[in-house]
Amino acid sequence: MSAPPVVDLPIEDERLAQDVANGLAAVEKLLRSSVESEDAFVTEASKHLIEAGGKRFRTLMVLLAAQFGDPSAPGVVPGAVVIELTHLGSLYHDDVMDEAPVRRGSPSANARWDNTVAILTGDYLFAQASDILADLGPELIRIQAQTFSRLVQGQIRETIGPRDGEDQVAHYLSVLADKTGSLIAASGRFGALLSGAPADVEERLSSACEAIGVAWQLGDDLLDVASSGAESGKTPGTDLREGIKTLPVLYVLASGESSRLTELLSGPVAEEDVDEALTLLRAHSGMARARAELDAWVDRARADISGLPDIPAKAAFLALCDYVVERSG
Ligand code: IPE
Ligand code: IPE
Ligand code: MG
Ligand code: MG
Repeated sequence: MSAPPVVDLPIEDERLAQDVANGLAAVEKLLRSSVESEDAFVTEASKHLIEAGGKRFRTLMVLLAAQFGDPSAPGVVPGAVVIELTHLGSLYHDDVMDEAPVRRGSPSANARWDNTVAILTGDYLFAQASDILADLGPELIRIQAQTFSRLVQGQIRETIGPRDGEDQVAHYLSVLADKTGSLIAASGRFGALLSGAPADVEERLSSACEAIGVAWQLGDDLLDVASSGAESGKTPGTDLREGIKTLPVLYVLASGESSRLTELLSGPVAEEDVDEALTLLRAHSGMARARAELDAWVDRARADISGLPDIPAKAAFLALCDYVVERSG
């Protein structure tokens, strides 16, 4: 299984393309050095998923947002590393919670070692992120703390499920905004703040990035059903096995149909039934409805982006919106 590729955005403006390429390279370098420990095993466990791949989608958001101020400001690259380390730590933990065997086309840390190593490596990554963040000042520290708090609460609310009487789709979408939208929104905000962009631009970028984040996670949930593991670098059907009811599943269950598919989706899907459930779900109209929801979130992001100053990064953000739609199939 090959690792998923870095986001390859078509950026027409040559200067912007060069700035982004330089920024990505600088982030990569600092990301790797930031996890170096005197203990060779800690370094190895931390670098495991960094070297496995990853699209660096959040880094790209930080770098593009920084174009609305001074993109060469000294905090931009460390800020992107803080975001990427926070994301990475959450993946080490998420794969424990989801019992996921594969991540970024490689064995997850819990599969390669065990849950204890995966949990502690995730904690180490969060600590390294805090160390870099301390140099960026109290405003950034607070934003990261509030973001991480939302992310964790999203993960908890996903685990617990909706309260009695709570609308299931509304619960699902609010979980997405918290567990994924929050950190992607923070990516836009970090880029804006660290480059000294104006406050109204910062708000617009944060709002656009949050909507992109919800769409991104909706796409991720669709890919869990629709993609082969080779494309996603993950094991298809992980959500079904765990009994996590993503949007297409909620739409199937809300349809009131009584079918083999509704029977299969009523709880965690047994290993021997996963292929059948995936085949039936791929053909169900719930997939198209979930895709329409994704499109609506991307449209919200486009509306926010349309009010940004007319610089090449604005076109790149719009291309990013197209990428999010196309990725989901
Ligand atoms: C995966 O995020 C987890 C989600 C929040 C959807 P990405 O799809 O950005 O994962 P990497 O970093 O490219 O592996
Ligand atoms: C990941 O959510 C969200 C966070 C890590 C905060 P998922 O569990 O849905 O994502 P994948 O499919 O494992 O990447
Ligand atoms: Mg997961
Ligand atoms: Mg999860």
